[in-house]
Parts: sequence; structure tokens; C-alpha cells
Amino acid sequence: MSLTSLPKVELHLHLEGAAPPAFIHSMSREKNIDISKIFNADGSYNFRDFTHFLSVYEAACSVLKTPEDFARLTTAVLEQCAAHGVVYAETFLSPDLTCEADVPAWREYLGAMQEAADRAESQGITLRGIVTCIRHFGPERAKQSALCAAETASDWLVGFGMGGAEDMGEQGDFAYSFDMAREAGLRLTTHAGEWRGPSEVSAALNDLRVERIGHGVRSIEDPALVERLAEEKITLEVCPISNITLNVFPRMSDHPVEKLRKAGVPVTISTDDPPFFHTTMTREYETLERTFGWDEDVFASVNQTALDGAFCTDETRDIISKRLKSE
Ligand code: ADE
Ligand code: ZN
Repeated sequence: MSLTSLPKVELHLHLEGAAPPAFIHSMSREKNIDISKIFNADGSYNFRDFTHFLSVYEAACSVLKTPEDFARLTTAVLEQCAAHGVVYAETFLSPDLTCEADVPAWREYLGAMQEAADRAESQGITLRGIVTCIRHFGPERAKQSALCAAETASDWLVGFGMGGAEDMGEQGDFAYSFDMAREAGLRLTTHAGEWRGPSEVSAALNDLRVERIGHGVRSIEDPALVERLAEEKITLEVCPISNITLNVFPRMSDHPVEKLRKAGVPVTISTDDPPFFHTTMTREYETLERTFGWDEDVFASVNQTALDGAFCTDETRDIISKRLKSE
């Protein structure tokens, strides 16, 4: 079976970050908003480094205004995912970038995205949502996102998390928001150990009590932490090409994903913000095959790990499990 059609589970995908540049460009023309400086001459996104990436990302989002825009985005993103064999994805949704985290407005946007996702089920892909607050917007704004999440928690809106600039503040500053989300029955993840080192991952586990970590790859610098991740079965949402593009590691051969996997840490593979990093799930898999010799058995086990760590109901998990095995 080709790596493209191999059925895959993707846990770390930012909906806005997955917006194809042509889609954002045509929206900007429709709405007469000039964001031409965020594009290269060939139409791809133009950014220099991580901080610039975050500002280009926010500029791209500025053209998405209505619930219908987000429904169209959801449809476009799911079409891409399905074309690369993704049978189940969890996507990060940021009420801050959607509707200034206003709860009644959020209900409408979420409803529109969910309806678009329901329509895409016919392509054999199931989507679930995770509300994410944005770290560099600070703990007070995070509370508003957590409220959006708590008020709309469901079998579809299954989690709460945090992205954004990891070098701003501390994980623990956001404990109030994570506690609110946990009390609403949401499952928790946060970006950690991407920009800062292993202490950030420990802080996420100790202070936010998350059960998954976005990236977490710099945990490799602390053997005791690696042991803890393996023992406590903390799922890492690893996004290899994102890490190389943003210079977390210089080359793919330096990426610790294989060492972490061999140490028994539950590693999973995702694209993060695929068009920004010129990646797809197929490209991630091809790179892992080429660099670390991963074969179909490894990919099957990584996908099972992802399904085990997914935040969906067990009923959904059973349906996806059949999809993973049947193809
Ligand atoms: N938001 C979108 N992509 C991100 C990343 N790789 N790290 C932190 N925040 C993000
Ligand atoms: Zn991310």
C-alpha cells in the first residue's frame, strides 16, 4: 500500500494553520483586505522565524470573518487531510482568532465548523475539535477561551489546550483555565518542549495536569523525564517537519522522534500547520521512512498509539479502529 493511502490518525492540526495560502489569498480579495506581504511571489506563506510565523499566521486569520468562512475553511482542510489518508483528525480551534472568544458568537462559529465536518464524513474522515488558548495573549484572555470551551464541551468539542509563544510566561499561569476545562469534562493538551526545554514539559504535567503534550520533543534532553513520559503513557503529538522548518533541530537525522519511540514514549505523528511547512501527512511518513527506516508495522503502531490517545468517545474510537484495520 502506498504511504498516501495508508490510513492515518492525526492529533495535532491547527485549523487556521492548515488554511491553504490560495484559500486565504482569495478570501482576502473577496473582502478587500490587503495581506499581500504575508505571501511569497510563488503564493506560499512568507516567514523568517517562529515569532514572524506567529504574526503571519494571525494576519492570515484576519481575513476569516464569518461562521460561513470557517465552514469553508473546515471543508477545504478536511479535503486535504482525506487526500492523504487521514481517517480521524483532531483540530485546534482558537476562539481568540475566530470571534474574540465571545461565547454566544463562538456557539455559531463552532456549529458551522461542526456541520462542515459532518458533511465531510462521507469522505471517510472524522474530525473532533480542541479549543486552544494562545499563550502570548496571556492568562486573562485564556480564561475567556476556556469559558468558550467549557460552555460548548460535547462529544465533538472534546478538549482544551494552549499554543502560541512558549517563551511567554509559565504553563502554571494558565492553571485556572485548564482547571475550568477539566471540570467541564474536557481532555487536556498543551504545546510544551518545542521552544523551551524539558522543564516546560514537566511544568505542563505538574501544573496543568495535561494528558498529552504538543511537540514535547525537547524532553529528550532529560532522561528522567523521558522515563516519566513512558511510564505515565503521556502521548506526544510530534510534528517532525514543523520542527525542522522552524529550526528546533537542524536536520531530520537530529530529530529525537525515533529515540523517544524506542524509549517507550507514546509518539504520534502530525503536520501542525501543513501549508506553512510545505508538508502533508504523506510527506511526514515518507520522511520518517527515509530517515529512520520506519515501515508499515511502525506506522501501524504509531497510528494505534494516536487512536489510543485520541480524545473522542470509545464509540468513535471503535469506528476509527475498524477504518485503520480495514484498508
Ligand atoms: N500555533 C500554531 N502552530 C504552532 C506551533 N508550532 N507552536 C506554537 N503555537 C503554534
Ligand atoms: Zn502546534
